[in-house]
Amino acid sequence: MKVKVYKNYQELSIDAAKEIINQVRTNPKSIIGFATGSSPVGLYKEMISDYKINHTSYKDIKTFNLDEYFGIDKTHPQSYYQFMMNNLFSHIDVNPENINIPSGVVTDINVECDAYNKKLSQNIIDIQILGVGGNGHIGFNEPGTSFDSVTHHVKLDEKTRKDNARFFNSIDEVPKYAITMGIKNILSTRKIILIATGINKSDAVYHMVKGDVTPVWPATALQMHDDVTIYVDEEAASKL
Ligand code: F6R
Repeated sequence: MKVKVYKNYQELSIDAAKEIINQVRTNPKSIIGFATGSSPVGLYKEMISDYKINHTSYKDIKTFNLDEYFGIDKTHPQSYYQFMMNNLFSHIDVNPENINIPSGVVTDINVECDAYNKKLSQNIIDIQILGVGGNGHIGFNEPGTSFDSVTHHVKLDEKTRKDNARFFNSIDEVPKYAITMGIKNILSTRKIILIATGINKSDAVYHMVKGDVTPVWPATALQMHDDVTIYVDEEAASKL
């Protein structure tokens, strides 16, 4: 596991974006795994600015998102579908047909999970972008999730709901459930870059890098992957 510590979020984002841009320039048919949340927003801004200046094309990539809230439609302003559209996809030339995001409104959740797992098994992700929860979750794999998990329906931790309430009018509006790629899916990707900033992430970063590998801190599973780079600021790195 490589750890890169930055003083400045923009520099961190520029370096993380270079990994994606180089990957896509080397292989225009790359498969990229995307995350939502605040952590990768700077990386997405850098990809957009590179797209405008250098015209790196995303028209042949395939994308897979980690997760989606359950019970809200993709048109909901806080759906992860809208997040990806607003923060990245509508600003670059990605082909809408190549975008994969789990659906939060389905008649049969098991059918949706099985279909997502099937697609993932046919499409090995070249680079997976991750954030980490203050409680160590990756995707929405909350503490206690098996490392053998594949795409599944989850009940969100109260801490996660509180952390994400900032995006909603009140905590009551934050969905209680989500659909997420499992830890096994995440570990099956070729390369992982994880971004974490702020003191709120320092415990999770400590366990992820130095702690015992345990489902109590889901991000410790990343110690079992052989190509993980963690982009952190000084606050997130402060307990290392
Ligand atoms: C988002 C996701 C989550 C976030 C994590 C950190 O798709 O899967 O694991 O990466 O909750 O969120 P932020 O970046 O908002 O602190």
